[in-house]
Formats: sequence, structure tokens, C-alpha cells
Amino acid sequence: MIVTIDGPAGAGKSSIAREVAATLGFIFLDTGAMYRAITLGAIRKQIEFSDPAGLIAHAKASRIQCLSDRIILDDDDITREIRTPVVTDSIKHVANINEIRDVLSQQQREIALSQNIVTEGRDQGTEVFPDAECKFFLTASPEERAKRRYQQLAESGRPIPLEQIRATQDQRDAEDRERPQGALRPAEDSVIINSDDMSRDEVMELILTTVRKQIESVTLHRSTPGT
Ligand code: C5P
Repeated sequence: MIVTIDGPAGAGKSSIAREVAATLGFIFLDTGAMYRAITLGAIRKQIEFSDPAGLIAHAKASRIQCLSDRIILDDDDITREIRTPVVTDSIKHVANINEIRDVLSQQQREIALSQNIVTEGRDQGTEVFPDAECKFFLTASPEERAKRRYQQLAESGRPIPLEQIRATQDQRDAEDRERPQGALRPAEDSVIINSDDMSRDEVMELILTTVRKQIESVTLHRSTPGT
């Protein structure tokens, strides 16, 4: 079974998707980490962002391993480095290239082959897995997402002004929504969850209940010949 969780930055997709996967015993795939890995690799190899052919060749030659809590690029553990602002600010140069999206989408489909998986990103339910059995679009208002990020950073001793967080977030949202291929948007058959007035537990409960119902209906369907 494939469960997709798409949504904008700061909606809490990663931590929710990870926990849903752990609870169900499914594998978890963070597709944003794959775009981050290719971006970091390009920075390290000093490939110009104005050189699409160079970036495409680099993406094709890169070997990304997405383990449960580690991201490995060509045998190098890059788990922490892919989260640095320089990578986040540069991802668009990689994510806007359709050929790179095709390479990563293909790898994502291969990872999902015959596995129960929870995969999160922007285009999982729309373009990569249009036939996924369970699709969610997890969102929250821009104010709420910025506020949560602000609190997170303040608690970890790295305070950044709220307005600055909001401006960066708005820009990333716009870039993610306007991309011609792989744009951020809910699939028509997705369950849209706005978590503004929901606790984390309530979001988890809603997703788990929906997936479990789907698992039951698939099992029932399979065990009832002729249906
Ligand atoms: O999810 P995360 O914030 O790590 O994603 C980083 C960036 O990677 C996104 O802002 C988006 O530009 C890109 N991305 C994408 N398609 C995905 C996942 C991420 O284009 N499936």
C-alpha cells in the first residue's frame, strides 16, 4: 500500500509521516531529502546552477540512499548538511529541472515497488503515485506555519525574527506552487487536513484511521471473490 502525504513547507509533514510509517510498520520516504541531496552534491562539485546539462548529469550519476534516519550520498552521510540554509535556498535550481524530477520520481517509484510505504513531498499524490491508495494533503495557514517554525527555532536557541521566517516561507511556497512539473497542489482524491486548530495527536489519529479503513477495505475486497 502507498500512502502519500504532500503539503507546503512547515506543515509538519515529515515528523507526522515518519510516525505514521513507524506505527503502521511501513517504510518512510522523505522525498525532499532527495532534492536536498542532489542540491548539496551540486554545491560540493561546484556545478553552476545556470548549467542544466551539468546538473542533470550530476543527478543521474548520484547514488542516494534514504535510510530510516540517515541520508547517504555516494557513501557520504549528509543527514545534517542537507538541512543548512544554503542548501534550502538553492533547491529550486534543481527542483525546477524536469529531467531531474523524472530521475528522482523514477527512483521513488523503485523504492516503493512491492513495499508498504508512507512517502512525503510535494508531488507524491499528484504525479509520482497518482494511483496511491491513500493520499493526504497536510497544510496549515502561513501564519500558523511561520509561528510554529519561530517557536521551534527559539526553543533550540537559534531565534530568527518571525517576519523573516514568514518572508522566506512565502517565497518557498510560491516557488513550489508555480513549478510547471511537480508543483505543490493537493491531488483531487486527497484528504485535505488543515492543522491550524488540530493537535498533533488529532492529525495522527485522522491519518491512521483513514489508512486503517483503506487497509480493511482492500483486505475485504481481496477475500471476497467476484467483488
Ligand atoms: O520537504 P522539504 O522542505 O525538505 O523539501 C525541500 C524542497 O524540495 C521543497 O521546497 C521543494 O522545492 C523540493 N521538493 C520537490 N518535490 C518533492 C519534495 C521536495 O520539489 N517531492
